[in-house]
Amino acid sequence: MVDEAIWTIEQHTQAKHELLRRYLGAWFPILTASGFNRRVVFLDGFAGPGIYANGEPGSPLIAIETLVDHAHFEQLSRTEFVFIFVEADGERFASLEHELNGYWARRDGGKPANVRIELFNDEFAAVAAQLVAATHGQSKQLAPTLAFIDPFGWSGVPLDLIRDLLASDKCEVLFNFMYDSVNRFVADKRPGVARHFAELFGTSENEHKAASVLNGEDRKAFLRDLYMRQLQDVGGFTFVRSFDMMDLDRGRTAYFLMFGTRHHKGLQVMKDAMWSLDPIAGAQFSGHAGDQQMLFSEELDVSPLRRAILDRFTGESAAVEMIERFVIEETDYKATHYKKQVLKVLEEEGLLLCESERKRRGTYPKGTSLRFVEPGDQRDS
Ligand SMILES: C[S@@+](CC[C@H](N)C(=O)[O-])C[C@H]1O[C@@H](n2cnc3c(N)ncnc32)[C@H](O)[C@@H]1O
Repeated sequence: MVDEAIWTIEQHTQAKHELLRRYLGAWFPILTASGFNRRVVFLDGFAGPGIYANGEPGSPLIAIETLVDHAHFEQLSRTEFVFIFVEADGERFASLEHELNGYWARRDGGKPANVRIELFNDEFAAVAAQLVAATHGQSKQLAPTLAFIDPFGWSGVPLDLIRDLLASDKCEVLFNFMYDSVNRFVADKRPGVARHFAELFGTSENEHKAASVLNGEDRKAFLRDLYMRQLQDVGGFTFVRSFDMMDLDRGRTAYFLMFGTRHHKGLQVMKDAMWSLDPIAGAQFSGHAGDQQMLFSEELDVSPLRRAILDRFTGESAAVEMIERFVIEETDYKATHYKKQVLKVLEEEGLLLCESERKRRGTYPKGTSLRFVEPGDQRDS
């Protein structure tokens, strides 16, 4: 935990910011594309001081910059963008206000008319409860919202509150599950600690305790999977992905970024962002993405994807759109992984037949219908 009002940025924080940048860069235009959403909200529940020790921007400034510097920002003028920033610490809150004011003062044209900033020097839970009460009271729903919930620890982020806040269909969450700190305290027997964990996981006070008898990777997988499952079951998010952020100095997981959405497109865009940070597995920041040595020695392994596609579709016909949906929603892979590296190879092996017209063999444009044949029935290609 950091004591200073402003601290030195770590590599995993830069990776977290890169993920946020990439996701928001796609999310803002997608949500406004149809002109249907008149208001879009980015809620930063643990906003921080807005700046790091060497002048790097914090998440609030990154979110704003991603929007107002976006190549399509001018076309999004019919939508109001609301940025809600919550920071409990007085000194950090003052710094955040200062950084925001400085940002608008430096920007040509200042703050655009369709951007609204709401600042709260308060606890996330208190502000979230107010928002829930305000929307319920007027039987309104929160506008499409991405809630970035980025605490230092594991208290003050009850899953029930996240569920109530983000109950509307188009709301999503990017939650920082502070694994390192959870792991240190999860076996703590003090009742106050157990209650915080029950709130964090949205479980009874006992469920997380099963972690105490586990060690190492088993314990990590148990806690990660428990939170992911709870985000689905209690949080109501149809799709949940996690991304492992390594602390490079200590050589171990610092936290998992957990993403929850109810929408295929949101899932697709987040997976693309995750794969851009980790071209080998799409699941972990380990500081190797820019390391040429590493990239040459390790390659993307599509064999699990090939197996998953064959398990799901062998003996059946399917449209290419259906296969793509399966890849995005039910495997770890993304949309650019399955055509050339799996379908084309299967076709060459005679395990895949094309049932519709197309210009070129080995290509799978929209509308292509494919038949996955049983291994014994394959024809020579
Ligand atoms: C991990 S830092 C946030 C970093 C920031 N999101 C970024 O990426 O630049 C967590 C922040 O939450 C603040 N904080 C701690 N408890 C809080 C609470 N209950 N509600 C709101 N903010 C809190 C801390 O003062 C700290 O600035």
